[in-house]
Amino acid sequence: MTTVKEKIQELKQRQKKIKMGGGQKRIDSQHAKGKLTARERITILLDEGSFIELDQFVEHRCTNFGMEKEEAPGEGVVTGYGTIDNRLVYVFAQDFTVIGGSLGEMHAAKICKVQELAMKMGVPIIGINDSGGARIQEAVDALSGYGKIFYQNTLASGVIPQISVIMGPCAGGAVYSPALTDFIYMVRNTSQMFITGPQVIKTVTGEEVTAEELGGAMTHNATSGVAHFIAENDTDCLEQIRRLISFLPSNNLDGSPIVECSDDPSRTEEELNTIIPDHSNQSYDMKEIITKIVDNGDFYEVQPYYAANLITAFARLDGQTIGIIANQPKVMAGCLDINASDKSSRFIRFCDAFNIPLLNLVDVPGFLPGTNQEYGGIIRHGAKMLYAYSEATVPKVTLVVRKAYGGSYLAMCSRDLGADQVIAWPTAEIAVMGPAGAANIIFKKDPDIKTKTDEYVKNFATPYQAAKRGFVDMVIEPQETRPILISTFSMLASKREGRPAKRHGNFPV
Ligand code: HXC
Repeated sequence: MTTVKEKIQELKQRQKKIKMGGGQKRIDSQHAKGKLTARERITILLDEGSFIELDQFVEHRCTNFGMEKEEAPGEGVVTGYGTIDNRLVYVFAQDFTVIGGSLGEMHAAKICKVQELAMKMGVPIIGINDSGGARIQEAVDALSGYGKIFYQNTLASGVIPQISVIMGPCAGGAVYSPALTDFIYMVRNTSQMFITGPQVIKTVTGEEVTAEELGGAMTHNATSGVAHFIAENDTDCLEQIRRLISFLPSNNLDGSPIVECSDDPSRTEEELNTIIPDHSNQSYDMKEIITKIVDNGDFYEVQPYYAANLITAFARLDGQTIGIIANQPKVMAGCLDINASDKSSRFIRFCDAFNIPLLNLVDVPGFLPGTNQEYGGIIRHGAKMLYAYSEATVPKVTLVVRKAYGGSYLAMCSRDLGADQVIAWPTAEIAVMGPAGAANIIFKKDPDIKTKTDEYVKNFATPYQAAKRGFVDMVIEPQETRPILISTFSMLASKREGRPAKRHGNFPV
C-alpha cells in the first residue's frame, strides 16, 4: 500500500522533474544564448510569488516517429495565471528546452485553455513565444493546434488586451498568432519572426540574408512595423510589459486604472508659449510638447522606430490613461504617409476598443506626395485613419498646435470626424492647403502676388477662420494646455455615443 506521505512525495518528485523542463544541459544552453527559461520569464513578469501553474501534467499523445518514447515535461509550454500590480493576468511561455518549444496538439490545448480562461475572467493574456514552430512529428495535429489558437486570438480581439512576446524563434505560420494580438514585443539579437527562413529564401529567390536582418527585433520595429516594442534583453522586455499593463484596462467593459498623481493638474508651462518657431517652416520636437503636458512628463511610446513622422503613445492626465496620436514635425515635416496611417489607425482602434480617450496633437502639412505613396495605395491606407477616427466613440480631443492643412487636417480628427472638443493654439494654421500653394492658385494672374500671399497668410493661416465657423471650440494660450486638457477630459468622462447597428463595418484594409 502506498502511504499518503509517499503519495505527496511522488507529487513533489513529479513536479520537480517538470520544473526542470528539458534538463540542466538545455537550460544552460538557453542561458548561453542570452535567454531566460520559460519559468524564469514568468517569475520576472508577474508579482512575486503570484504565479499559479495549470496543466503541469499534460502530456502529448503522439506515437509517430518514436515519439511515444519522447518525454516532454509540461508539453513544452508553461501556462497559468498571476498578477501584475495586483491585477489578474493569464500567461503562457513556450519552453524551448523541451523539444525546442515546438507546438503539438496538447501544447496548443494548454494555450487555448488559458486563452479561454482569460476571456471568461476578462483579463489580459501575455504569450511568450520561443519555439521551433509546428512539432513536425505531430503533423496536422500541430497545424490544427495553431488554427485553434488563431481562432481564440480573433475572438478575444477587442475584448481583452493580448500581448505577444517574441523571445526566440517564431517562424512559419506561428507568426500569425502574435500578429493577431494587440502588441508584439521583441528582444534585440535573440528573437526572430519570419514566414520563411533564410535557407528557404536562398533556395527560392537566391537572396542571401541573415536571420537577424530578415526578422530580427529592429527589422520588425523599424522596417516592417510588425512589432511595437523592442527590448535590450529578456528582463528589460518583461519589465516593459508590466509598464504597458499599468496603462490598460483589464477588458473592454473596464476603465483603465487611475493612478495617484503627484503632478499638479493646474500646472502651467511657460515654455509652451515659445516652443513653436516664429517661422512656420522651421521644425521642433513634438515630444517636448507631450512631455510638458502629461503627468510627470512620462509617456510610453508605441512603435517609436516605425513611421517616426507620427507619434503614438500612452500617457496619463491627472492619473487617467490617454492615447496620444501626434504629428512629429522633426521627421518628414510631420507629413502623413502609408506607414503613419497604418500605425495610427491600429492604435486608434485599440484605444477605442478599450475605452482609452484620445488626444490628437496636430501639426500636419499634408499627405506625403509621390509615386511611391500613390502606387503603394496611400488612398486606401489614409482612409484607415478617417475610418478609425470616425468609428471611435471614446472621448476625442484634438489640439491644433500649428499646421492643419487640407485632407490631413481632417485625417487628424477634425470636428467633422467626431472630435468632441477642438482646441487650437494661436499658432494654429487651419486651412484648405499650405498658404503659398493656395495663394499661387487664386492670385496667379495678380501682378502683386507677393502682397496678396502675405495677406492670405495673415488672414487664413490662423485658427480664427475655423473658429468663426465653430470648427474650433477654443483658442488657448499654450501655457494653459495641461489644465485645460485635464478639465476637458474630465468633462468628457461621461460621454455616450452610439453607432448604427451592423454586423461590422468594412474597414479599408
Ligand atoms: C520538432 C523540433 C522543432 C520542430 C526544433 N525541434 N524545432 N522538433 N519540431 N518544429 C527540436 C530539435 O530537433 C532539437 O531537438 C531541439 O528542438 C532544439 O532545437 P535545435 O535545432 O537544437 O536548436 P537551435 O540550434 O537553437 O535551432 C532552433 C531552430 C531549429 C532554428 C528553431 O530548431 C529549427 O530550424 N527548427 C525547425 C523550424 C521549422 O522548420 N519548424 C516547422 C515549421 S512548419 P534535440 O532532441 O536535438 O535537442 C510550421 C507550420 C506552422 O511551423 C503553420 C501554422 C499555421
